[in-house]
Amino acid sequence: MTESASLALPVLDAGLEARLRERLTEVESRLEVEIRSEAPFITEACRHLLHAGGKRFRPLLVLLAAEAGPDAASEDVLTSACVVELTHLASLYHDDVMDEAVLRRGADSANARWDNHVAILAGDWLFSKSSELTARLGADAVRIQAETFTRLVEGQILETVPATQDELLGHYLKVVEGKTGSLIATSARYGAMFSGASAEVVDALTSYGEKVGIAFQLSDDILDVGSDSDASGKTPGTDLREGVPTLPVLFALRSTDPGDGRLQELLGAPLEDDALHAEALELLRKHPAMDEARSYVLTLAREATEVLTVLGDGPVKDALVAFADLIATRSS
Ligand code: FPP
Ligand code: MG
Repeated sequence: MTESASLALPVLDAGLEARLRERLTEVESRLEVEIRSEAPFITEACRHLLHAGGKRFRPLLVLLAAEAGPDAASEDVLTSACVVELTHLASLYHDDVMDEAVLRRGADSANARWDNHVAILAGDWLFSKSSELTARLGADAVRIQAETFTRLVEGQILETVPATQDELLGHYLKVVEGKTGSLIATSARYGAMFSGASAEVVDALTSYGEKVGIAFQLSDDILDVGSDSDASGKTPGTDLREGVPTLPVLFALRSTDPGDGRLQELLGAPLEDDALHAEALELLRKHPAMDEARSYVLTLAREATEVLTVLGDGPVKDALVAFADLIATRSS
């Protein structure tokens, strides 16, 4: 039996907390079953990151958004919670290959534990599984899933395309909307849709999910600079090493303070040299751009909650507001 799931979100209402915990535990058991293949090695490769941890933000958001409709524990709500986690998990296997990352969720990445071929095929297999489950949800879900996945992959590809100097921030935000906003928006949308919420509520929660998703990726990028691997379960400074200009870097590059010359020089290219990488990371960690980036994310997360007036006051709205706040201020 799966242990009771822990919630990555403090929920003040005891009844709501118990319902979310129970349903997330059910989602966890189903995920465990879904990643079983007839080939034991595929099961082992997919179980590796599923078991390594993860905050389960996406399925939690499905379950929370579902509380806005009359049938919050419907079969389709639970299935769609599995769909979004499996899609996310699939993308992590591929992302770590692209980033040459060796650490994920505090464990060896699949590419480090085995090799790139295993990581790519395990990601493909997980994505196929999530597609099988989506087919159970009907034609609308298949279309939404396909559109979401197109956006997700487009975002990831766009990240590899250099932007011109005057469009750096706009380019970065487009990447983030695609690679992360898309699936988090769909998580909230599925929850509302499959619990039978009104079209107005589905639209509001989709827009909430998109903004919260962007805030989530921005805070992830801030943590890539500011947190150590014990907290994040990943190797700090991966974006800097890969030369991906994220929010703190873009803000530091905008500075006109002559004292920032050395940092700006270092940030101009991928940082493969260990000593230069460590120097840039240290300078960036104490740069005011970090606080500027944190406050940008907080503003975005607050904006995300503006559409929630459609829900009326109560524990579900409070929990969605807390979810947005948590995402903007998280430390892991
Ligand atoms: C994390 O970026 C990456 C994503 C949110 C999306 C990755 C998508 C793909 C690799 C396409 C997947 C394709 C298939 C077929 C499954 P990050 O590197 O900034 O985040 P991190 O800090 O968690 O590594
Ligand atoms: Mg990565």
